[in-house]
Amino acid sequence: MASSSSNIDLSGPSFCVVTGASQGIGRAIAVEISKHLGPQSLMLLLARKKQELAVTASLCESDKVKVLYNSVDLSTASEKEMNQILKQAIGGHEAIDFSNCLIFHNVGSLGNLAVETSRMENIEEFRQYYDLNVFKVISLNTQFLKIFEEIEDRIIIVNITSLCAIKPMGGMAYYCSGKAAREMYFRVLAEEKKQIKILNYSPGPVETAMIDNVLEEAVNENLKDVFQSFKSQGTLIKPEITAKKCMKVLLSGKFAPGEHVDIFDVE
Ligand SMILES: NC(=O)c1ccc[n+]([C@@H]2O[C@H](COP(=O)([O-])OP(=O)(O)OC[C@H]3O[C@@H](n4cnc5c(N)ncnc54)[C@H](OP(=O)(O)O)[C@@H]3O)[C@@H](O)[C@H]2O)c1
Repeated sequence: MASSSSNIDLSGPSFCVVTGASQGIGRAIAVEISKHLGPQSLMLLLARKKQELAVTASLCESDKVKVLYNSVDLSTASEKEMNQILKQAIGGHEAIDFSNCLIFHNVGSLGNLAVETSRMENIEEFRQYYDLNVFKVISLNTQFLKIFEEIEDRIIIVNITSLCAIKPMGGMAYYCSGKAAREMYFRVLAEEKKQIKILNYSPGPVETAMIDNVLEEAVNENLKDVFQSFKSQGTLIKPEITAKKCMKVLLSGKFAPGEHVDIFDVE
């Protein structure tokens, strides 16, 4: 991890978006960041399951933080819809009213774990996977950047990435390639926009529905064994723990632009 750079100060009013906030890591991140936001902050939680978003919102809401949520399918939402959702949440405020504008791109899915990498013929399915995990993440990020362009130096972006973005994992070609593409987009953006703080945070193996889905759906025996041993040895990390570590890295400011920081890099 890079050592030079200063702490991030969130004591002023912030606007903060968390995608995939209805459960798992996204919920934990929303709850954790809400504790650090200053008075008159506004949070916007996005995912499909409205009732679960409401639960997350109730966990984040405080005297200092107002929480809005929107049920949206981020794999199909148009750029116009995304822009409207963001603008509606900002409401009567101006972009310059906020001391910080944060977005956590946490939304993610596993892709088809039942297809061997040497037999990937369903390109439409693969494209749909990329829609949610890569293309629409970029679309939402672009709308966010456009809305806050006059205060670009106050923008903070966290992409929830994975070890799979930098290390191949047999049986996970959709997931690994999607995570790699998404991470590289944020790294290129960080290269161009030095005034924006961009972190690629890798949360480690976390106890969420995603892990259960791997065990249910994977055909690759090694992949199954790896995840089964995470479960049986009790080495899975609680969402709250990784969310705290993510915030520790973020608030310390000790990361290079677009750096991939893994939970195991954090003390
Ligand atoms: N768990 C791990 O071990 C692990 C490890 C490394 C990285 N990660 C990454 O961490 C992130 C969160 O993973 P997780 O384990 O917390 O997974 P999860 O429990 O499956 O949560 C995924 C979140 O994404 C939302 N989502 C999925 N499809 C969506 C869609 N079409 N439109 C809008 N929202 C959608 C889900 O909400 P709705 O169903 O309500 O839409 C949910 O809130 C992902 O990017 C994942 O790749 C996880």
